[in-house]
Amino acid sequence: MTLLVTGGAGFIGSNFVLDWLAQHDEAVVNLDKLTYAGNPENLATLQGDGRHVFVRGDIGDYGLVLDLLKQYQIRAVVNFAAESHVDRSIHGPEDFIQTNVLGSFRLLEAIRAYWGGLDEAGKSGFRLLHVSTDEVYGSLEKIDPPFAETNQYQPNSPYSASKAASDHLVRAYHHTYGLPVLTTNCSNNYGPYHFPEKLIPLCIQNALAGKPLPIYGDGQQIRDWLYVKDHCSAIRRVLAAGKVGEVYNVGGWNEKANLDVVNVLCAILDELQARADGKSYAEQITYVTDRPGHDRRYAIDAGKLERELGWKPAESFETGIRKTVEWYLANQDWVQNVMSGEYQSWLDKNYAERQA
Ligand code: NAD
Ligand code: DAU
Repeated sequence: MTLLVTGGAGFIGSNFVLDWLAQHDEAVVNLDKLTYAGNPENLATLQGDGRHVFVRGDIGDYGLVLDLLKQYQIRAVVNFAAESHVDRSIHGPEDFIQTNVLGSFRLLEAIRAYWGGLDEAGKSGFRLLHVSTDEVYGSLEKIDPPFAETNQYQPNSPYSASKAASDHLVRAYHHTYGLPVLTTNCSNNYGPYHFPEKLIPLCIQNALAGKPLPIYGDGQQIRDWLYVKDHCSAIRRVLAAGKVGEVYNVGGWNEKANLDVVNVLCAILDELQARADGKSYAEQITYVTDRPGHDRRYAIDAGKLERELGWKPAESFETGIRKTVEWYLANQDWVQNVMSGEYQSWLDKNYAERQA
């Protein structure tokens, strides 16, 4: 029995692969294109571990995916592979259409061809778990209830629109062809191996480097934060016991305004690695031009996953964020290695034009 994990060298995918192999002996074939966001170093501890096979490739490569499915007799696919950064989708949406829409389509086609050739037991036991986002539901007002699985899709960014398209394709392949799919829609993750283009790792790095901590707009946008290891445990639970064709929302019950998140980071850094001048890192907070079309609030109702499958997050925001800051302080080599030339040119593109 073998799992095919796509995008398993990225932030959530690599946490998933590491946790999976720490808990199971079931092998993992890890298919990742290694874009700027994919980093084999995340998987360094698996070197020499025969249960992990890394393949550099594209989910949009039908022939490659079909070969892997057949060669390793895959019994489930967990699809993390995607372009994932909203700001990048605003600057250049095309990669998002290529991977999140066309890539997902070709992945589905390869899986359909493979699954169609399995015997009845293989067919009914097979699963495709598609990892998606709460952003497909659009933006909430302060008084709105959190997103339920029944909410209408109202994606607002090229990123969320491309993820919504992939969710619709996955749903359609179940309804039309009977493909045994599961979809999870998760809120904002944070934790180890988070690429430092996203709010939390970016602010940790900028704080330590004495740079501005850029807050888009008024900083009162709300996100629902989930420690990445909790997302991984939710995916394992849905894969093991989720009802075929169903959608499960995953969240941390942790709604926080961006400014509050950054202030918490600064307070932990003040305690663990105080600034040489004795001032707080919060002094580096700088308001910058807002993200175009910025969604005001996301919040997830994860009640279905708790009621039906008994899943709850293990970490509170307070415990998870402290672990995260500690991880970044202890893994500065990892951060320096991912802050390559490409990363520097992204910072120039995204922040140079934002007025302080
Ligand atoms: P990430 O950007 O850190 O990693 C994405 C990985 O996919 C990278 O390793 C990259 O190399 C790989 N990849 C990109 N295009 C590929 C392609 N065409 N073929 C094969 N591999 C490809 O993303 P992440 O934050 O780990 O997110 C993983 C998944 O979870 C995404 O589908 C994302 O939409 C979803 N998600 C993310 C969050 C979050 O807060 N980060 C929350 C909810 C859902
Ligand atoms: O909600 C789930 C989504 O969470 C995932 O689907 C995405 O893949 C993931 O990137 C994340 O999207 P966000 O846009 O919410 O994450 P990001 O870290 O980019 O931004 C978090 C909030 O912080 C958002 O309101 C924008 C704001 N922000 C972000 C950056 C990078 C800033 O204020 N300043 C910044 O420099």
